[in-house]
Amino acid sequence: MKASKRKKTMGQRRPRAAQAEAAPQVIVLAAGIGSRMRSTLPKVLHRIAGRTLLDAVIDTAEGVSPSRIITVVGARRDSVEASLSGRDVTIVVQDPPLGTGDAARRGRSALSNGSGPVLILSGDAPLLTSATLTKLIERRRENGLDLAFLTFRPPETGDLGRVVRDAKGRVRRIVETGNATARQMRLPEANAGVYCFSSEALSRALGKLSRNPVNGEYYLTDAVEILTSSGGAVEGVEAEDWREGWGINTRAELAAAEEIERRRCLERALDAGASIVDPATTRIGPKVRFEPDAVVHPFVCIDGTSVVEQGSEILPFTRVIDCVIGPGAVVGPHCELEGARVGPRSRVGPFARLRPGTVLEEDVRVGNFVETKKAVLRAGAKASHLTYLGDADVGAGANIGAGVITCNYDGEKKHHTSIGEGAFIGSDSQLVAPVTVGKDAWVGAGSTITRDVPDGALALSRVPQKNLEGWAARRRGRKGSKS
Ligand code: UD1
Ligand code: CA
Repeated sequence: MKASKRKKTMGQRRPRAAQAEAAPQVIVLAAGIGSRMRSTLPKVLHRIAGRTLLDAVIDTAEGVSPSRIITVVGARRDSVEASLSGRDVTIVVQDPPLGTGDAARRGRSALSNGSGPVLILSGDAPLLTSATLTKLIERRRENGLDLAFLTFRPPETGDLGRVVRDAKGRVRRIVETGNATARQMRLPEANAGVYCFSSEALSRALGKLSRNPVNGEYYLTDAVEILTSSGGAVEGVEAEDWREGWGINTRAELAAAEEIERRRCLERALDAGASIVDPATTRIGPKVRFEPDAVVHPFVCIDGTSVVEQGSEILPFTRVIDCVIGPGAVVGPHCELEGARVGPRSRVGPFARLRPGTVLEEDVRVGNFVETKKAVLRAGAKASHLTYLGDADVGAGANIGAGVITCNYDGEKKHHTSIGEGAFIGSDSQLVAPVTVGKDAWVGAGSTITRDVPDGALALSRVPQKNLEGWAARRRGRKGSKS
């Protein structure tokens, strides 16, 4: 339903969309100290639903296809910069922190020239969505505004900036609590700290900021009055869901945001058609994707970029990170999977551990106390009990008996084991890599395989069994003569 709604809106706006606008550039403000967190960790590196606040904001920014993302860092910037390694962002330093207006100026210095709009976001507001950001961008473009900024009505306005409107409802200014009158303090509409400027208006406003008399900082919020008082076109756009405007300043707010974000992730899964048996004990990460009829049982955590495909089932007490769980597959209970692909109708667990690089093709069976790492198990292969398969390729339909171990590590290097299609590895065998067991080959139980086994052969390396008839009685007799 949502998709069709979106389509319709786009359809209505098609004539205007023809006047294409350059992709926005984004400045994320993340240089503040965040002293209200009482933490040695910079505020923007605290996490909700597994992501740092800053990552959540940058993910949201990426959702509007920006041409460039600039992040302004300052306080404890080494750790903030380190957290961004691997992300496509331009880093700018603000030191000392002289307020949001000063931070925006630093960010602007890294903008590439061009006429596109500039978004300014706070690194501490992780609940904002790309959809709301898109609305803000569209409002600015459609109404040809100098500035569109996001407002919201939280249950408590606390020390948020208040949005002051005139009798006709037009935005006049934003007042910070330190400068607000008692009457302004009672205004219900707050500034979310999310702005979409035209590049020209941003330059104009930043050039005119002056220090706040209360604490000597430059407030980005002053840009509103600078623009409105010189005839500029500014609109405050209220968020449909007040939580989107919410910035995190304290631990209590962080905990509350965690709950909101967690619920949203669950709702996304439900919207996609998954069943969540017990929402209270289920953790779903913000980037996890579900297909219809996936079923998630209690006490399950699914995180990272995992995809849970059509009709698959995750049984209790299972953790799945960065995995693809194929259609109709069943995983759990009590399993740990990371960086693995589980193919269609495959069955994993209980008590299995699939480590990165594990690929199970279709109809594979991995049972209890089996660990795999960089191992490919081809269609229909089985390793049902007590096995380690590392750096291995297991052919289609092969059967790995209980207690089989690939000895892949010689103390210095890892080596590969190849097991042919249809092979049968008897229980309690060790395959000392590098080694190949051929197609349809057999390994007798209890063997230590150090040389390749040809296709169709039987390999046996155990010591032949001796039976000493009557041995028990003789032993008892020896014992009796001693005492
Ligand atoms: C700011 C707004 C307020 C708004 C609120 C929404 C100002 C003056 N006030 O207040 O109107 O209601 O956000 O959450 O803008 N930062 C820097 N450098 C600095 C100071 C801050 O990069 O020198 C960054 C912070 O890391 C943070 C963001 O800017 O990510 C907002 O700063 P913060 O101190 O949290 O502002 P608020 O007091 O919440
Ligand atoms: Ca804040």
